[in-house]
Amino acid sequence: MTDAARSPEDLGRLAQSLLDELALVTDETGRVTRTYLSPAHARSIDLVGGWMRERGMTTALDAVATLRGRRPADEGAAPRTLLIGSHIDTVVDAGKLDGTLGVIGGILALEEIDRRGLRLPFAVEILAFGDEEGVRFPSALSSSSAATGTYRREWLEARDRDGVKLVEALAAFGCDPARIETATIDPAGVLGYLEIHIEQGPRLEHWGLPLGVVTSIAGQTRMSMTLTGMAGHAGTVPMDLRRDALAGLAEIILGVERIGRQGTGELVATVGRVQVFPGAGNTVPGRVEASLDVRAAADTPRLVALERIAWEAGRIAERRGLSFALERHVDVPTCPMDEDLQEAFARAVVSLGLDLRRLPSGAGHDAMAMARSFPSAMLFIRSKAGISHNPLEWSDPLDLGLGIEALVRTILDLAEKERGR
Ligand code: GLV
Ligand code: MN
Ligand code: MN
Repeated sequence: MTDAARSPEDLGRLAQSLLDELALVTDETGRVTRTYLSPAHARSIDLVGGWMRERGMTTALDAVATLRGRRPADEGAAPRTLLIGSHIDTVVDAGKLDGTLGVIGGILALEEIDRRGLRLPFAVEILAFGDEEGVRFPSALSSSSAATGTYRREWLEARDRDGVKLVEALAAFGCDPARIETATIDPAGVLGYLEIHIEQGPRLEHWGLPLGVVTSIAGQTRMSMTLTGMAGHAGTVPMDLRRDALAGLAEIILGVERIGRQGTGELVATVGRVQVFPGAGNTVPGRVEASLDVRAAADTPRLVALERIAWEAGRIAERRGLSFALERHVDVPTCPMDEDLQEAFARAVVSLGLDLRRLPSGAGHDAMAMARSFPSAMLFIRSKAGISHNPLEWSDPLDLGLGIEALVRTILDLAEKERGR
């Protein structure tokens, strides 16, 4: 017995209701904030895992707290696995769609395949990653890196704002940091990795199109900068005798902005987090720690900008009698998406009667880490006004439904290919 296929309108409405429910799972009342290994992250695993199990999937949590929901193959002697995923962690004061859509969209696409009574010659695993954003710890993309065996063990020693080490947070969450290798997925049995995601930029809206196929993902480097001077009394240390770490950082931040503006290849450079020590209004800042995020559509402009920033910051620090240290936490090169999987997404978009456009991604995604081991591809869904990392993030539910229907058709297209292997 099969149920009637849902229309894109119905799929979109259903996705929206699940997205609304997941958005209520937060660490901060009144806004969506769900960082890696937080209490809200644990509750979101329960909620999303429940949705997977209700739809007949088996669930497991890996050694870095990635929720994995598996639907077995319906046919084939030694079936391979298709991976579908995205992340359920969020930035601080986030929207409802970034990452979560890729997980909920994957679950609904599989439900739809079952409702239509369709059979698959491969297993499908939905991966709900927990550390894509790199907000609580500096280790962005660490869960998808673990899936590809490229986890950097030095991440475990990084601390959050409260001084908790990642290794301690994992243990407190019930994960075993000594067994991170067990999270690695053997590429031999994997067909590929698909991720649907909101665009988070304005291009699709500008073109008047709900969907677009991603060609590549901009490389990104994330660092922390530490400037150390001398803390002192704000009333007694004369201006010319100060070694004010925050004033030095202010000068460096303006340099980062200038270098970002002067760069080519869609270079962007951001300082988004600053911590001041000791952090009192009547004390000259003795030490500051700040984040640095640099990205570009190609690797050379990013690497050139990083060199310039490091050189200029060093000069500024020297002139001001400050010591300066840079630590690199994330360094991911520009990542092209797999051509064959791009074509599978493209055929699905065309089969929906939509014009086909392709676009690069400026934002980072789990697909960049997954591409190290598996053929990987992404489909973007139009974002209103290109707004993201902001509670105003929004996409029309019909566009969400079209994205999920395109994913259904892509899975079926891959199923046909797999049968012919
Ligand atoms: C993830 O959203 C990133 O690109 O920072
Ligand atoms: Mn995302
Ligand atoms: Mn994000």
